[in-house]
Amino acid sequence: MSLRRKIVARFEELYRTTPTVFIAPGRINLIGEHTDYNGGFVMPAAIDKHFVFAVSARNDEIFSVYALDLNEQVEFTLTDLKAGDSWVNYMMGVVAAFMQINPSIKGLNVVFGSNIPMGGGMSSSAALCSGFGFALNETYHLGLTRIELAKISQSSERNFAGANVGIMDPFASLHGRKDSFLFLDCRSLAFDHAPFHSTEYELLLIDTKVKHLLASSAYNKRRQACEEGVAYIRKQHSSVSSLRDVSKNLLFDYREDFNEDTFDKCSYVIDEIERTRQALDLLKAGDLVSLGALMFQTHWGLSRSYEVSCPELDLLVSLAEKKKEFFIGSRMMGGGFGGCTINLVKKESTIAITDEIKANYFATFKTEPNFYPVTLEEGVHLTKTAN
Ligand code: GLA
Repeated sequence: MSLRRKIVARFEELYRTTPTVFIAPGRINLIGEHTDYNGGFVMPAAIDKHFVFAVSARNDEIFSVYALDLNEQVEFTLTDLKAGDSWVNYMMGVVAAFMQINPSIKGLNVVFGSNIPMGGGMSSSAALCSGFGFALNETYHLGLTRIELAKISQSSERNFAGANVGIMDPFASLHGRKDSFLFLDCRSLAFDHAPFHSTEYELLLIDTKVKHLLASSAYNKRRQACEEGVAYIRKQHSSVSSLRDVSKNLLFDYREDFNEDTFDKCSYVIDEIERTRQALDLLKAGDLVSLGALMFQTHWGLSRSYEVSCPELDLLVSLAEKKKEFFIGSRMMGGGFGGCTINLVKKESTIAITDEIKANYFATFKTEPNFYPVTLEEGVHLTKTAN
Protein backbone atom coordinates (compact mmCIF):
# COMPACT_ATOMS: atom_id res chain seq x y z
CA MET A 1 0.00 0.00 0.00
CA SER A 2 1.28 3.49 -0.80
CA LEU A 3 2.26 5.83 2.02
CA ARG A 4 -0.65 8.08 1.14
CA ARG A 5 -3.17 5.24 1.33
CA LYS A 6 -1.78 4.05 4.65
CA ILE A 7 -2.04 7.52 6.11
CA VAL A 8 -5.56 8.11 4.88
CA ALA A 9 -6.66 4.68 6.15
CA ARG A 10 -5.20 5.37 9.60
CA PHE A 11 -6.80 8.81 9.63
CA GLU A 12 -10.25 7.44 8.82
CA GLU A 13 -9.87 4.79 11.50
CA LEU A 14 -8.90 7.36 14.14
CA TYR A 15 -11.13 10.29 13.29
CA ARG A 16 -14.03 8.76 11.32
CA THR A 17 -13.99 11.44 8.66
CA THR A 18 -12.39 12.00 5.24
CA PRO A 19 -9.20 14.07 5.43
CA THR A 20 -7.63 16.62 3.14
CA VAL A 21 -4.19 15.38 2.06
CA PHE A 22 -1.00 17.39 1.57
CA ILE A 23 2.45 16.46 0.30
CA ALA A 24 5.58 18.17 1.70
CA PRO A 25 8.87 17.24 -0.01
CA GLY A 26 12.40 17.11 1.34
CA ARG A 27 15.08 19.05 -0.50
CA ILE A 28 18.46 18.68 -2.10
CA ASN A 29 20.90 21.50 -2.79
CA LEU A 30 22.95 21.44 -5.98
CA ILE A 31 25.34 24.17 -4.91
CA GLY A 32 25.47 27.17 -2.54
CA GLU A 33 26.30 25.58 0.81
CA HIS A 34 26.52 27.58 4.03
CA THR A 35 25.63 30.66 2.02
CA ASP A 36 21.99 31.10 3.07
CA TYR A 37 22.78 32.65 6.44
CA ASN A 38 25.38 34.85 4.75
CA GLY A 39 22.90 36.61 2.46
CA GLY A 40 24.15 34.59 -0.50
CA PHE A 41 22.61 32.37 -3.19
CA VAL A 42 21.53 28.72 -3.06
CA MET A 43 20.28 26.25 -5.69
CA PRO A 44 18.03 23.76 -3.94
CA ALA A 45 15.11 21.69 -5.26
CA ALA A 46 12.19 19.77 -3.79
CA ILE A 47 12.44 16.02 -4.40
CA ASP A 48 10.40 12.84 -4.69
CA LYS A 49 10.85 12.00 -1.01
CA HIS A 50 8.21 13.62 1.15
CA PHE A 51 5.85 13.81 4.10
CA VAL A 52 2.18 13.06 3.64
CA PHE A 53 -0.25 14.88 5.96
CA ALA A 54 -3.91 13.91 6.33
CA VAL A 55 -5.80 16.63 8.22
CA SER A 56 -9.26 17.84 9.21
CA ALA A 57 -10.50 20.91 11.08
CA ARG A 58 -11.68 20.83 14.72
CA ASN A 59 -13.95 23.11 16.69
CA ASP A 60 -11.71 23.30 19.74
CA GLU A 61 -8.12 24.24 20.60
CA ILE A 62 -6.72 20.71 20.45
CA PHE A 63 -4.10 19.43 18.00
CA SER A 64 -4.43 15.66 17.88
CA VAL A 65 -1.39 14.41 15.95
CA TYR A 66 -0.53 10.84 15.04
CA ALA A 67 2.94 9.98 13.69
CA LEU A 68 2.50 6.85 11.60
CA ASP A 69 6.22 6.02 11.36
CA LEU A 70 6.57 6.03 15.14
CA ASN A 71 3.10 4.78 15.94
CA GLU A 72 2.80 7.64 18.42
CA GLN A 73 -0.11 9.95 19.15
CA VAL A 74 0.33 13.30 20.86
CA GLU A 75 -2.18 15.97 21.83
CA PHE A 76 -1.41 19.57 22.61
CA THR A 77 -3.52 22.68 22.89
CA LEU A 78 -3.08 26.23 21.70
CA THR A 79 -2.52 27.34 25.26
CA ASP A 80 0.11 24.71 26.05
CA LEU A 81 2.98 25.29 23.61
CA LYS A 82 6.25 24.45 25.34
CA ALA A 83 9.42 23.22 23.67
CA GLY A 84 10.28 19.70 24.85
CA ASP A 85 12.44 17.04 23.29
CA SER A 86 10.12 15.40 20.80
CA TRP A 87 9.19 15.68 17.11
CA VAL A 88 6.04 17.47 18.22
CA ASN A 89 8.18 20.54 18.99
CA TYR A 90 8.37 21.31 15.30
CA MET A 91 4.60 21.44 15.10
CA MET A 92 4.18 23.41 18.30
CA GLY A 93 6.68 25.93 16.96
CA VAL A 94 4.59 26.35 13.81
CA VAL A 95 1.41 26.82 15.84
CA ALA A 96 3.14 29.36 18.13
CA ALA A 97 4.20 31.40 15.08
CA PHE A 98 0.67 31.26 13.61
CA MET A 99 -0.78 32.42 16.93
CA GLN A 100 1.29 35.58 16.75
CA ILE A 101 -0.27 36.37 13.40
CA ASN A 102 -3.79 35.10 14.06
CA PRO A 103 -4.61 34.24 17.70
CA SER A 104 -8.05 32.90 16.78
CA ILE A 105 -6.90 29.72 14.98
CA LYS A 106 -8.31 26.35 16.03
CA GLY A 107 -6.88 22.86 16.41
CA LEU A 108 -6.49 20.08 13.82
CA ASN A 109 -6.67 16.33 13.54
CA VAL A 110 -3.51 15.11 11.83
CA VAL A 111 -1.97 11.83 10.72
CA PHE A 112 1.40 12.10 9.02
CA GLY A 113 4.24 9.93 7.79
CA SER A 114 7.26 10.20 5.55
CA ASN A 115 9.52 8.35 3.14
CA ILE A 116 12.40 10.83 3.54
CA PRO A 117 15.42 8.90 4.85
CA MET A 118 16.01 10.31 8.35
CA GLY A 119 19.43 11.80 9.01
CA GLY A 120 20.20 11.86 5.28
CA GLY A 121 20.34 15.67 5.20
CA MET A 122 17.23 16.06 3.01
CA SER A 123 15.71 18.46 5.53
CA SER A 124 12.92 16.35 6.88
CA SER A 125 12.41 18.81 9.74
CA ALA A 126 11.85 21.73 7.36
CA ALA A 127 9.46 19.57 5.29
CA LEU A 128 7.59 18.67 8.48
CA CYS A 129 7.20 22.33 9.53
CA SER A 130 6.43 23.55 6.02
CA GLY A 131 3.83 20.86 5.31
CA PHE A 132 2.14 21.27 8.66
CA GLY A 133 2.05 25.07 8.33
CA PHE A 134 0.69 24.80 4.79
CA ALA A 135 -2.06 22.43 5.98
CA LEU A 136 -3.03 24.78 8.81
CA ASN A 137 -3.08 27.76 6.46
CA GLU A 138 -5.27 25.97 3.90
CA THR A 139 -7.65 24.41 6.41
CA TYR A 140 -8.52 27.74 8.02
CA HIS A 141 -8.10 29.88 4.87
CA LEU A 142 -5.59 32.11 6.64
CA GLY A 143 -4.09 33.49 3.43
CA LEU A 144 -0.40 33.36 4.35
CA THR A 145 2.00 33.32 1.41
CA ARG A 146 4.55 30.58 0.82
CA ILE A 147 7.30 33.01 1.81
CA GLU A 148 5.54 33.68 5.11
CA LEU A 149 5.16 29.94 5.64
CA ALA A 150 8.88 29.42 4.99
CA LYS A 151 9.68 32.03 7.64
CA ILE A 152 7.29 30.37 10.09
CA SER A 153 8.98 27.03 9.48
CA GLN A 154 12.40 28.58 10.06
CA SER A 155 11.20 30.25 13.27
CA SER A 156 9.82 26.93 14.53
CA GLU A 157 13.18 25.22 14.04
CA ARG A 158 14.93 28.11 15.74
CA ASN A 159 12.61 28.70 18.66
CA PHE A 160 11.21 25.26 19.37
CA ALA A 161 13.90 22.89 18.12
CA GLY A 162 16.94 25.01 19.01
CA ALA A 163 18.48 24.84 15.51
CA ASN A 164 19.67 28.20 14.23
CA VAL A 165 19.03 27.27 10.58
CA GLY A 166 18.85 29.46 7.48
CA ILE A 167 15.90 29.95 5.12
CA MET A 168 16.99 27.55 2.35
CA ASP A 169 15.33 24.32 3.50
CA PRO A 170 11.73 25.42 4.09
CA PHE A 171 11.93 27.76 1.11
CA ALA A 172 12.86 24.86 -1.16
CA SER A 173 10.22 22.54 0.25
CA LEU A 174 7.55 25.20 -0.33
CA HIS A 175 8.68 26.63 -3.68
CA GLY A 176 9.99 23.60 -5.59
CA ARG A 177 8.89 23.05 -9.17
CA LYS A 178 8.94 19.81 -11.18
CA ASP A 179 12.22 19.24 -13.05
CA SER A 180 13.69 22.55 -11.85
CA PHE A 181 16.15 23.92 -9.37
CA LEU A 182 15.43 27.12 -7.50
CA PHE A 183 17.91 29.93 -7.66
CA LEU A 184 17.25 31.80 -4.44
CA ASP A 185 18.72 35.08 -3.29
CA CYS A 186 18.66 34.49 0.47
CA ARG A 187 18.90 38.19 1.20
CA SER A 188 15.96 39.54 -0.80
CA LEU A 189 14.17 36.15 -1.08
CA ALA A 190 13.77 36.81 -4.82
CA PHE A 191 13.90 33.54 -6.71
CA ASP A 192 13.74 31.97 -10.10
CA HIS A 193 13.29 28.45 -11.42
CA ALA A 194 16.11 26.95 -13.47
CA PRO A 195 14.98 23.88 -15.46
CA PHE A 196 17.05 20.71 -15.17
CA HIS A 197 16.56 18.51 -18.21
CA SER A 198 19.34 16.24 -19.22
CA THR A 199 19.35 13.25 -21.50
CA GLU A 200 22.82 12.32 -20.26
CA TYR A 201 22.99 12.94 -16.52
CA GLU A 202 20.89 12.43 -13.41
CA LEU A 203 21.04 13.12 -9.71
CA LEU A 204 22.09 10.52 -7.18
CA LEU A 205 22.39 10.92 -3.41
CA ILE A 206 24.79 8.66 -1.57
CA ASP A 207 24.09 8.42 2.13
CA THR A 208 27.02 7.94 4.52
CA LYS A 209 24.51 6.84 7.16
CA VAL A 210 26.45 8.78 9.78
CA LYS A 211 25.59 11.96 11.66
CA HIS A 212 28.47 13.08 13.83
CA LEU A 213 27.55 14.72 17.11
CA LEU A 214 29.49 17.85 16.30
CA ALA A 215 26.96 18.95 13.71
CA SER A 216 24.86 21.54 15.53
CA SER A 217 27.59 23.13 17.67
CA ALA A 218 29.90 23.37 14.64
CA TYR A 219 27.09 24.94 12.57
CA ASN A 220 26.72 27.69 15.16
CA LYS A 221 30.48 28.21 15.34
CA ARG A 222 30.72 28.62 11.57
CA ARG A 223 27.93 31.18 11.63
CA GLN A 224 29.76 33.02 14.38
CA ALA A 225 33.03 33.12 12.43
CA CYS A 226 31.20 34.63 9.45
CA GLU A 227 29.45 37.19 11.68
CA GLU A 228 32.75 38.16 13.29
CA GLY A 229 34.31 38.75 9.89
CA VAL A 230 31.39 40.91 8.77
CA ALA A 231 31.30 42.91 12.04
CA TYR A 232 34.99 43.72 11.73
CA ILE A 233 34.85 44.83 8.09
CA ARG A 234 31.68 46.84 8.72
CA LYS A 235 33.55 49.06 11.16
CA GLN A 236 35.27 50.61 8.16
CA HIS A 237 32.75 49.82 5.42
CA SER A 238 29.34 50.62 6.81
CA SER A 239 27.54 49.35 3.70
CA VAL A 240 28.67 45.77 4.42
CA SER A 241 25.85 43.82 6.05
CA SER A 242 26.80 40.24 5.16
CA LEU A 243 29.57 38.31 3.38
CA ARG A 244 27.54 38.81 0.20
CA ASP A 245 28.82 42.40 0.23
CA VAL A 246 32.48 41.43 0.70
CA SER A 247 34.70 40.84 -2.34
CA LYS A 248 37.77 38.61 -2.20
CA ASN A 249 39.96 41.72 -2.56
CA LEU A 250 38.29 43.43 0.36
CA LEU A 251 38.70 40.33 2.50
CA PHE A 252 42.41 40.19 1.66
CA ASP A 253 42.78 43.79 2.93
CA TYR A 254 41.99 42.38 6.37
CA ARG A 255 44.06 39.23 6.17
CA GLU A 256 46.52 40.40 8.85
CA ASP A 257 43.73 41.45 11.21
CA PHE A 258 41.85 38.15 11.14
CA ASN A 259 42.90 34.93 12.74
CA GLU A 260 43.36 32.12 10.24
CA ASP A 261 40.09 30.45 11.13
CA THR A 262 37.91 33.52 10.55
CA PHE A 263 39.76 34.29 7.32
CA ASP A 264 39.31 30.75 5.95
CA LYS A 265 35.63 30.58 6.82
CA CYS A 266 34.86 33.96 5.23
CA SER A 267 36.99 33.13 2.23
CA TYR A 268 35.11 29.88 1.58
CA VAL A 269 31.73 31.65 1.75
CA ILE A 270 32.75 34.42 -0.65
CA ASP A 271 34.02 31.83 -3.15
CA GLU A 272 30.87 29.75 -2.78
CA ILE A 273 28.56 32.70 -3.42
CA GLU A 274 30.47 33.32 -6.65
CA ARG A 275 30.42 29.62 -7.64
CA THR A 276 26.65 29.57 -7.19
CA ARG A 277 26.21 32.55 -9.53
CA GLN A 278 28.39 30.76 -12.09
CA ALA A 279 26.48 27.50 -11.62
CA LEU A 280 23.22 29.18 -12.62
CA ASP A 281 24.74 30.39 -15.88
CA LEU A 282 26.19 26.93 -16.55
CA LEU A 283 22.87 25.23 -15.84
CA LYS A 284 21.08 27.62 -18.18
CA ALA A 285 23.72 26.98 -20.85
CA GLY A 286 23.35 23.21 -20.38
CA ASP A 287 27.02 22.85 -19.42
CA LEU A 288 26.62 20.30 -16.64
CA VAL A 289 30.23 19.12 -16.91
CA SER A 290 31.57 22.55 -15.88
CA LEU A 291 28.88 22.83 -13.21
CA GLY A 292 29.97 19.45 -11.86
CA ALA A 293 33.55 20.69 -11.64
CA LEU A 294 32.30 23.53 -9.40
CA MET A 295 30.62 20.97 -7.14
CA PHE A 296 33.96 19.25 -6.55
CA GLN A 297 35.48 22.65 -5.70
CA THR A 298 32.66 23.30 -3.25
CA HIS A 299 33.28 20.00 -1.57
CA TRP A 300 36.97 20.55 -0.97
CA GLY A 301 36.25 24.08 0.21
CA LEU A 302 33.75 22.73 2.71
CA SER A 303 36.18 20.03 3.78
CA ARG A 304 39.47 21.95 3.99
CA SER A 305 38.51 25.57 4.64
CA TYR A 306 35.03 25.50 6.14
CA GLU A 307 35.78 22.22 7.93
CA VAL A 308 32.29 20.76 8.01
CA SER A 309 32.98 17.48 6.21
CA CYS A 310 33.99 14.13 7.72
CA PRO A 311 36.04 11.11 6.55
CA GLU A 312 32.95 9.29 5.28
CA LEU A 313 31.88 12.19 3.02
CA ASP A 314 35.45 12.82 1.86
CA LEU A 315 35.88 9.18 0.88
CA LEU A 316 32.68 9.21 -1.20
CA VAL A 317 33.76 12.36 -3.04
CA SER A 318 37.30 11.04 -3.60
CA LEU A 319 35.87 7.85 -5.07
CA ALA A 320 33.63 9.92 -7.35
CA GLU A 321 36.61 11.98 -8.47
CA LYS A 322 38.40 8.82 -9.54
CA LYS A 323 35.40 7.66 -11.57
CA LYS A 324 35.02 10.57 -13.96
CA GLU A 325 33.47 8.27 -16.57
CA PHE A 326 30.40 8.07 -14.29
CA PHE A 327 30.56 11.13 -12.03
CA ILE A 328 30.75 14.68 -13.36
CA GLY A 329 30.10 16.32 -9.98
CA SER A 330 30.04 15.29 -6.34
CA ARG A 331 30.03 17.05 -3.00
CA MET A 332 28.74 16.84 0.55
CA MET A 333 25.29 18.36 0.91
CA GLY A 334 23.71 20.34 3.74
CA GLY A 335 25.10 21.31 7.12
CA GLY A 336 27.80 18.62 7.10
CA PHE A 337 29.38 16.03 9.44
CA GLY A 338 27.41 13.23 7.77
CA GLY A 339 24.31 12.79 5.67
CA CYS A 340 24.56 12.51 1.89
CA THR A 341 26.74 13.51 -0.99
CA ILE A 342 24.91 14.89 -4.01
CA ASN A 343 26.20 13.57 -7.32
CA LEU A 344 25.70 14.33 -10.98
CA VAL A 345 26.10 10.96 -12.66
CA LYS A 346 25.75 9.46 -16.11
CA LYS A 347 22.27 8.07 -16.62
CA GLU A 348 21.92 4.34 -16.11
CA SER A 349 25.28 4.08 -14.41
CA THR A 350 23.89 3.56 -10.91
CA ILE A 351 24.39 -0.20 -10.88
CA ALA A 352 27.99 0.06 -12.02
CA ILE A 353 28.64 2.80 -9.47
CA THR A 354 26.90 1.10 -6.58
CA ASP A 355 28.92 -2.11 -6.32
CA GLU A 356 32.30 -0.46 -6.48
CA ILE A 357 31.48 2.31 -4.03
CA LYS A 358 29.85 -0.06 -1.59
CA ALA A 359 32.96 -2.28 -1.59
CA ASN A 360 35.36 0.64 -1.11
CA TYR A 361 33.28 2.26 1.59
CA PHE A 362 32.85 -1.04 3.39
CA ALA A 363 36.60 -1.66 3.38
CA THR A 364 37.11 1.53 5.43
CA PHE A 365 33.95 1.98 7.48
CA LYS A 366 32.59 -1.58 7.78
CA THR A 367 29.17 -0.52 6.59
CA GLU A 368 27.66 0.21 3.19
CA PRO A 369 26.24 3.57 2.12
CA ASN A 370 22.70 3.92 0.77
CA PHE A 371 21.93 5.12 -2.75
CA TYR A 372 18.95 7.30 -3.62
CA PRO A 373 18.34 8.41 -7.20
CA VAL A 374 16.18 11.56 -6.95
CA THR A 375 13.87 13.51 -9.23
CA LEU A 376 12.85 17.15 -8.83
CA GLU A 377 9.24 17.68 -7.84
CA GLU A 378 6.54 20.22 -7.03
CA GLY A 379 6.85 21.96 -3.64
CA VAL A 380 4.32 21.53 -0.80
CA HIS A 381 0.84 20.99 -2.26
CA LEU A 382 -2.62 19.67 -1.77
CA THR A 383 -3.13 16.31 -3.44
CA LYS A 384 -6.32 14.87 -4.79
CA THR A 385 -5.01 11.59 -6.20
CA ALA A 386 -6.11 8.47 -4.38
CA ASN A 387 -2.68 6.74 -4.45
C1 GLA B 1 21.47 23.24 7.02
C2 GLA B 1 20.60 24.46 7.30
C3 GLA B 1 20.46 25.34 6.06
C4 GLA B 1 21.82 25.66 5.46
C5 GLA B 1 22.64 24.39 5.29
C6 GLA B 1 24.03 24.68 4.83
O1 GLA B 1 20.83 22.38 6.11
O2 GLA B 1 19.31 24.04 7.70
O3 GLA B 1 19.76 26.52 6.40
O4 GLA B 1 22.49 26.62 6.24
O5 GLA B 1 22.73 23.66 6.51
O6 GLA B 1 24.01 25.21 3.55
